[in-house]
Amino acid sequence: MTSSSESTAPFESVDEVVEALREQGYIADTRLATTVFLLTRLDKPLLLEGPAGVGKTELAKMLALATGRRLLRLQCYEGQDETKALYEWDYGKQLMYTQILREKIGQVVEDAPDLGAAVDRIGQNESVFFSERFLAPRPLLEAIRSEEPVVLLIDEVDRADEALEAVLLETLGEFQISIPEVGTFVATQRPYVLLTSNNTRDLAAALKRRCLHLFLDYPAAERELEIVRSKKTGLSDALAEELVNVVRGLRELELRKAPSISETIDWARTLAVLGVEELNAQILSDTVSVVVKYDKDVTKALEALPRLVDPNGEIEEHGHGHGHGHGHGHGHEDEPDGSAIRSAKDTAGRHGDGVYGTPAYAKGTEKDTAAKVRNVTAGQGSRSFGLGRKRAL
Ligand SMILES: Nc1ncnc2c1ncn2[C@@H]1O[C@H](COP(=O)(O)OP(=O)(O)O)[C@@H](O)[C@H]1O
Ligand SMILES: [Mg+2]
Repeated sequence: MTSSSESTAPFESVDEVVEALREQGYIADTRLATTVFLLTRLDKPLLLEGPAGVGKTELAKMLALATGRRLLRLQCYEGQDETKALYEWDYGKQLMYTQILREKIGQVVEDAPDLGAAVDRIGQNESVFFSERFLAPRPLLEAIRSEEPVVLLIDEVDRADEALEAVLLETLGEFQISIPEVGTFVATQRPYVLLTSNNTRDLAAALKRRCLHLFLDYPAAERELEIVRSKKTGLSDALAEELVNVVRGLRELELRKAPSISETIDWARTLAVLGVEELNAQILSDTVSVVVKYDKDVTKALEALPRLVDPNGEIEEHGHGHGHGHGHGHGHEDEPDGSAIRSAKDTAGRHGDGVYGTPAYAKGTEKDTAAKVRNVTAGQGSRSFGLGRKRAL
């Protein structure tokens, strides 16, 4: 048995990983790239955990492309039994052979004195029908048996039952599969194995122990923007940047299903198709169903969008004396210190401030605020953000 030796390692450095994935259209940060680098150097599977739509499955696909390996995918689901993961006997083929060979089989049992003896005779020839020829390999066996090195993706492993997890454990620990009737297959070319989990349940500690582990969260604003850009959505960079910030704001809302990267991309495409030249609460509200898919989430999102698209919209208006103060007058002063909470949450970076909006501004009625925001461009908004803070205090 050989393992992925130094000479066949596809990447010389973490930077090379970043570059190779980027060439395939996958934007990885250093933490992710480092883990991938280790995956290619240590004979360990990689377990990727994190919310849906953050690029777990995509990473396996892109790693396969970047390394020129074939991708084998085991999609896990509830009630899946191990035959769908390891191998099955090709019953149809076995049946076909017995039909064609009926005469021959007839000869084997011809002179058997009774039924018991005939069954014994057939039994003696059983191995003919339970041989590699009649084996239908499923992804795990295929990955182990493959002569060419492959990438094995075990997708959404948290959906599988624990019994299957145990089977995985065995396979991934030894990189071998035993078939009683045939023998043991040992990987000649170790696959790169990636397991993904959306965290719908805890995985067995034993499985985690055997794997490199990475929690893949929603990306930093810069990286998400880079991803959106790389998808050539047709939306201008400036609008894409604003949009990413709005989506990040939506993620703060504790929605049942927070918008993922794919939804940001879809939203950008949608807005581009509509020929949008300026983001405002109206257009975002009209298209919000692209990113939030549950009724209650939509309600929350619609409420929040006006302040997310431009946290300072009303400051500008205030300054210009448009007289809209009534919309949020009630309870405004009682709000917790929004800016303090925000600064505590914000991480450094050019998208830091303003991403989460200011709770105080959310008090305005939807219609009221939406109307106001439309008059103010986001550029103006961010320039006057300092003012906004003072106002909020
Ligand atoms: N780092 C990334 N670079 C490029 N595209 C990405 C990245 N992360 C996510 N995506 C996009 O998001 C989509 C959803 O990612 P996916 O891998 O299906 O998510 P999940 O984590 O649920 O498996 C992908 O099809 C891809 O278009
Ligand atoms: Mg996935």
